[in-house]
Amino acid sequence: MTFHKSKAIRLDLQTWTEVEDYLKHSKGIILPLGSTEQHGPTGAIGTDALTAEAVAIEVGCRTGVLVAPTQAFGMAEHHLGFPGTMSLKPSTLLALLHDLVLSLAVHGFEKIFVVNGHGGNVATAKAAFMQAYSTAESRRLPIASRFQCKIANWFMASPVFSAARELYGDREGQHATPSEIALTLHLEPSLQIKQRPLPEASPVGPINGSEDFRKRYPDGRMGSDPFLAKSEHGKVLLEKAATALSKDLLDFLQ
Ligand code: NI
Repeated sequence: MTFHKSKAIRLDLQTWTEVEDYLKHSKGIILPLGSTEQHGPTGAIGTDALTAEAVAIEVGCRTGVLVAPTQAFGMAEHHLGFPGTMSLKPSTLLALLHDLVLSLAVHGFEKIFVVNGHGGNVATAKAAFMQAYSTAESRRLPIASRFQCKIANWFMASPVFSAARELYGDREGQHATPSEIALTLHLEPSLQIKQRPLPEASPVGPINGSEDFRKRYPDGRMGSDPFLAKSEHGKVLLEKAATALSKDLLDFLQ
């Protein structure tokens, strides 16, 4: 990824006239979606937003598709037992995503590709898309019949999933995973200093309210061993995620 190229595909660095020109040849846009939530005692609060943004920018560079500013807050109600977590209720996130994708649809963006970094956002994002389709139809937007939104979880892309299995086995766990932490170490080397061996994490189980979550998973991890994360792994995982999601995006835009 070149610095210059990564700026050229950021929506926030375009003028409105440039966006108008872009829409003459492309109707697609990428929206990175993260979360601001605890990631265990050694992982950064911004892990899900940092990783979603990095994958989105890389996919944008490779495909030439514009990347909207990152939505760094997501549905993290179950993490509110840990300081630093900032969550949107499902109903708030639903309303927010509805308004954001509809804003884009009003201008003629027909295909919204949400690069997601947090599993807790998925159900609400899909509900928001359904509501946005309905609004686009009732407002009779010119693009209503072609309007599509898709959520792509970078950590679930099959080459990423397989690589994480190979690198970490069942110590990948389900939250504050070594794969996502490895990506943050690659993106932000200053985080390396927080890495230290941890006792075995609580096993993976259900996710309920925040008090229950803290009781089940006292240090915030779900079955994971983030100490296994290495910056070099992060570089490989970013490459795999960008390759897989670029293909998904190009298929989506067909
Ligand atoms: Ni995460």
